[in-house]
Amino acid sequence: MDSNGHVFTAGYLAAKREIDDRALNTHVLDTLTACLSAENRAGPRRVLEVGAGIGSMCARLVERGLFTGTVEYWLTDTDHSLLAEARNYLTGWAGKHNFSITWNPDHTAHLTTGATEITISLAPVDIRYISSRPDFYCYFDLLIAHGVLDLFELSPVVEEFTGCLGSGGLCYFTCNFDGETYFSPELPDDRRILDHYHGSMAKRSSTARYTGRRLLGYFLENHAQVMAAGSSDWVIHPGSQGYSAAQREFLGALLSLIEKEVADIEENRHLYTTWIDLRRRQIDAGSLSLVAKHLDILARPDPGTRLMTRRA
Ligand SMILES: C[S@@+](CC[C@H](N)C(=O)[O-])C[C@H]1O[C@@H](n2cnc3c(N)ncnc32)[C@H](O)[C@@H]1O
Repeated sequence: MDSNGHVFTAGYLAAKREIDDRALNTHVLDTLTACLSAENRAGPRRVLEVGAGIGSMCARLVERGLFTGTVEYWLTDTDHSLLAEARNYLTGWAGKHNFSITWNPDHTAHLTTGATEITISLAPVDIRYISSRPDFYCYFDLLIAHGVLDLFELSPVVEEFTGCLGSGGLCYFTCNFDGETYFSPELPDDRRILDHYHGSMAKRSSTARYTGRRLLGYFLENHAQVMAAGSSDWVIHPGSQGYSAAQREFLGALLSLIEKEVADIEENRHLYTTWIDLRRRQIDAGSLSLVAKHLDILARPDPGTRLMTRRA
């Protein structure tokens, strides 16, 4: 369970990988790829990912050929059980791709893909207190947060996190929720229930519901160079063969999350339980579709502004 009482299971995160693979914004990812390949590096590339779960983003970026040469990839999360799952996930994934991976007793791994030598370090790190790791200060040249920033009040965690970035480094912050969840077919109680669900995000933080656009605003106001930004909406609909296993699992998990968030409603309770039951039957029948809005952003923070903020 995380600091907000959420439970992200390894099964859910594995299913989410397929949904995110389709959703990730290609323009933003291509811009990141171009930025990295334009750099002339002497030493290893240093990457820090927070809230990394089972390591899907690391696997995805390696598969997509983002890295060449040597890389230090810090794969961090607060959930120790997910970090243990990351080891299993990455071992299985490396095997499928004929990559070699060797684990050391200190939770680091050596991954060899042919084009790249990557040292992966699994570490418990809380994004809210990342400055308690002085060894991280200005150390990294790529920061990654995928589907994570909407769990927090935005400015303090982004400020804390970007303190880990060396001069000229990049932030690749993706799958930032941006305000809307839509189910089809529409039901009369959708608005009421989804308003309550979105309202539960507002209880968690004043920025959670609109993390995507707030993050864009944050970077621009703080003189970061926004290299690319674009939508990464989750779009799930039944295909000619129905849903994939991952889509089915993901839709079920999302409904369970909504059910949990509306559980505190007393008035007209039956409306909510009827709604959830009906949506579950629609998943079983293969007739439910979902759109949830997100934004991906690639930015290069202005070092002067960031360092001043941290020293203030
Ligand atoms: C929605 S999941 C996304 C996981 C992964 N990025 C992915 O998309 O597969 C959010 C992740 O943030 C982690 N998390 C929650 N609170 C955190 C904190 N304070 N610091 C760092 N990670 C945290 C959770 O354990 C979980 O793995």
